[in-house]
Amino acid sequence: MLRLVWGSLCVLLCAVGLGVYWSYDGFDPESIRGATVVITGCSSGIGEEMAYQYARLGAKILITARRENRLKEVVAKAKSLGAQEAHYVAGDMGKAEDCERTIQTAKEMFGRLDYLVINHAGSSFGSEWTEDLRFWEENPDMDFFVDFVNINMISYVRLASLALPLLKESSGHIVVMSSYAGKVPTLAYSSYNAVQFGVDGFFSCLRAELQKADRNVSVTLALLGMVATEAAKSMLKKIPGGEDYLAMAAPVDETALAVIRGGATRAREIYYPSYSWFISNIRRLPTFLEDYLIQDVLAM
Ligand SMILES: NC(=O)c1ccc[n+]([C@@H]2O[C@H](COP(=O)([O-])OP(=O)(O)OC[C@H]3O[C@@H](n4cnc5c(N)ncnc54)[C@H](OP(=O)(O)O)[C@@H]3O)[C@@H](O)[C@H]2O)c1
Repeated sequence: MLRLVWGSLCVLLCAVGLGVYWSYDGFDPESIRGATVVITGCSSGIGEEMAYQYARLGAKILITARRENRLKEVVAKAKSLGAQEAHYVAGDMGKAEDCERTIQTAKEMFGRLDYLVINHAGSSFGSEWTEDLRFWEENPDMDFFVDFVNINMISYVRLASLALPLLKESSGHIVVMSSYAGKVPTLAYSSYNAVQFGVDGFFSCLRAELQKADRNVSVTLALLGMVATEAAKSMLKKIPGGEDYLAMAAPVDETALAVIRGGATRAREIYYPSYSWFISNIRRLPTFLEDYLIQDVLAM
């Protein structure tokens, strides 16, 4: 009997120890004070919230999006929250010259760059979500696809490439927003899947190359599940049963902080909310189970 009690206690202690070990990330909020940060897609959603959280931590931020009026408001609020500096560049990340202008402005304003947070979600984002979800094989639209890939993937690669010389000098951080849709197919979202798999492939390779070349530049991929941004909410309203998915959505502020922590601690990947990890690993399961989960359980 005594053995059983001791055995159970040991198992419990091990479980608690492992829990603490896995949840401890060593994040030091002071490491952000004075850091120079470029964040894209900050006129709404997770990007806007990240701007406020970096501001509270005392960072110097440069934010981008297309809507200048919104950027002005976000900059004003970020300053009131404690940002050491806050600037914006209004521009379209689908245009090479606007990506160049963004990184050049960061260089001129700050003289160095510690963080590049690539977060924007292109203008066509969400147009795939209709009441009547259509599969690519029924409705191939190459113009949409080319535009979608340009804004949501090519611009990500472009921004990182432009920022790399500065990030190498500062031993900086690249943080890339992605989704479990970069690890597992999600029906009727083929363009989004293509972009997310591409982003995962490119940035995982870039991370490996940087490590091999002994460059101290980290690459963090944020593999998100559903997050309760206004954009996500309005998309889910169009889908039958979307309310159920909304109930599983993570709060925007908690998601933003999780991404900031992951970037600061040089995590390779962060999964938020945590169910995103389980979905991301569906393809490791036996094929019949993988097919069932992708085609029947995960499909909206
Ligand atoms: N929310 C979710 O459930 C969820 C789940 C998984 C992954 N993610 C990822 O998280 C990131 C943020 O998502 P979110 O939900 O916060 O998105 P959101 O609220 O729709 O915000 C998107 C931002 O991107 C900007 N943007 C759109 N097109 C642009 C362009 N051509 N050039 C420059 N900026 C542009 C928008 O501003 P303007 O319109 O003013 O340009 C806006 O600030 C995205 O990368 C998304 O894929 C989100």
